[in-house]
Amino acid sequence: MKLLLLGKNGQVGWELQRSLAPLGELIALDRHSTNLCGDLSDLQGLARTVQTLRPDLIVNAAAHTAVDKAESEPELARTINALAPGVLAQEAEKLGAWLVHYSTDYVFDGGGAQPWRETDTTAPLSVYGRTKREGEQLIAEHCPRHLIFRTSWVYAARGGNFAKTMLRLAQERERLSVIDDQWGAPTGAELIADVTAHAIRQAMQRPQDAGLYHLAARGEITWNGYAKHVIAQAGRAQSAIKIIANEIASVPTSAFPTPARRPHNSRLDCSRLQATFGLTLPPWQHGVDRMLAEIL
Ligand SMILES: NC(=O)c1ccc[n+]([C@@H]2O[C@H](COP(=O)([O-])OP(=O)(O)OC[C@H]3O[C@@H](n4cnc5c(N)ncnc54)[C@H](OP(=O)(O)O)[C@@H]3O)[C@@H](O)[C@H]2O)c1
Repeated sequence: MKLLLLGKNGQVGWELQRSLAPLGELIALDRHSTNLCGDLSDLQGLARTVQTLRPDLIVNAAAHTAVDKAESEPELARTINALAPGVLAQEAEKLGAWLVHYSTDYVFDGGGAQPWRETDTTAPLSVYGRTKREGEQLIAEHCPRHLIFRTSWVYAARGGNFAKTMLRLAQERERLSVIDDQWGAPTGAELIADVTAHAIRQAMQRPQDAGLYHLAARGEITWNGYAKHVIAQAGRAQSAIKIIANEIASVPTSAFPTPARRPHNSRLDCSRLQATFGLTLPPWQHGVDRMLAEIL
């Protein structure tokens, strides 16, 4: 089997390079790749790449993920998050190939406190959310052999992330305020990549399992609770931490105004994924603690 991976150096893309490797011949590109175009803002180049390689499976981990920046460059965000996945879907369909793609809880408006199901009505609050939703729609329209995983609050040991920012601030400052009214589940890029590889193997044998799935670690927490967990773990391992976890102040989202609105409720109901693929998603703390063990 020949696999094409786009966005190989992102958080999820990096882990997919590992988890997809045993499935076949893996060609991994990023936007700077030279021989073949891996730039999702170049729609013709992207189509040519698929036509040249003729993969059996395309996994798209690339996206315009700068949520606030997307508000001031909506056309670029739409090209990368919506039109490019649409091109991938059209080219995959011509080849009879599968397309795997990632989306986000930001397709929802964040109302209520119930975990979102795949069948719930979407109503994105931001350019990022709207363009990601359009990407989902174009894939569903053009390529029935697809897996779309909506995930949330992604982190990885590699690159920058919320936990690392909290660790840095806890070494620099005596006091810290963190938002306490947005709920979700921190989800490791490792988990997303491993579930992806498992689901691909099953779906290629059982095409009826194609479709849209929610994929997040188990449990729920606010950014404030997440920060407290990270600082408490780090405080046990490092003397340089100046802040006591339980003294991190709780503030509302309005305390930190941003160009893009974020959903308050990012909880995802992952029962469809677990039932279809026979998986048990681990509690969010497991992956976060592994990541902390790597970086501390
Ligand atoms: N991060 C989250 O919290 C989160 C939450 C929910 C859903 N998701 C979704 O999960 C997927 C993976 O996200 P992630 O966390 O791995 O994001 P990430 O770490 O920001 O990686 C995104 C990758 O896309 C690449 N990219 C940006 N513009 C590109 C272009 N024009 N052509 C080719 N590549 C381009 C980036 O390259 P550069 O590094 O060169 O910019 C980066 O390597 C995305 O679909 C995202 O929407 C993420």
